[in-house]
Amino acid sequence: MLLTEIDHVAIAVRDLEAAIDFYRHAFGAEVEHREVVQRDGVEEAMLKVAESYIQLVTPIRDDSPVAKSIEKRGEGLHHVGYRVHDCAAALASMVAAGATPIDKAPRPGSRGTTVAFVHPKGSFGTLIELVQV
Ligand code: CO
Repeated sequence: MLLTEIDHVAIAVRDLEAAIDFYRHAFGAEVEHREVVQRDGVEEAMLKVAESYIQLVTPIRDDSPVAKSIEKRGEGLHHVGYRVHDCAAALASMVAAGATPIDKAPRPGSRGTTVAFVHPKGSFGTLIELVQV
């Protein structure tokens, strides 16, 4: 089994502050980590739930993939991050199983992680992020 944890569930939002406030009021959740990821054109807030996170993510540029996703499908579930020991090995295994990579090779993610995204087409409709912590 290559997956070790659900690393995070990512939810695309238009207003990050409003979303953080909602999670704070509804669940008492606090932001454990916040980061602007220039490469992906997003700002994220990570809310810890046991050993996993809820990742609230908002675009900071119109050409961000998250901006396009919100434009097309509205706010909501954007991707699931699966934690793995070895991102390259997990990516190769997914491709061997017929999945379509977005990242051809692992690359830097937020929080100092190594990540690779895999296209929803070929993965039963879910954008998957492989996360090596
Ligand atoms: Co993510």
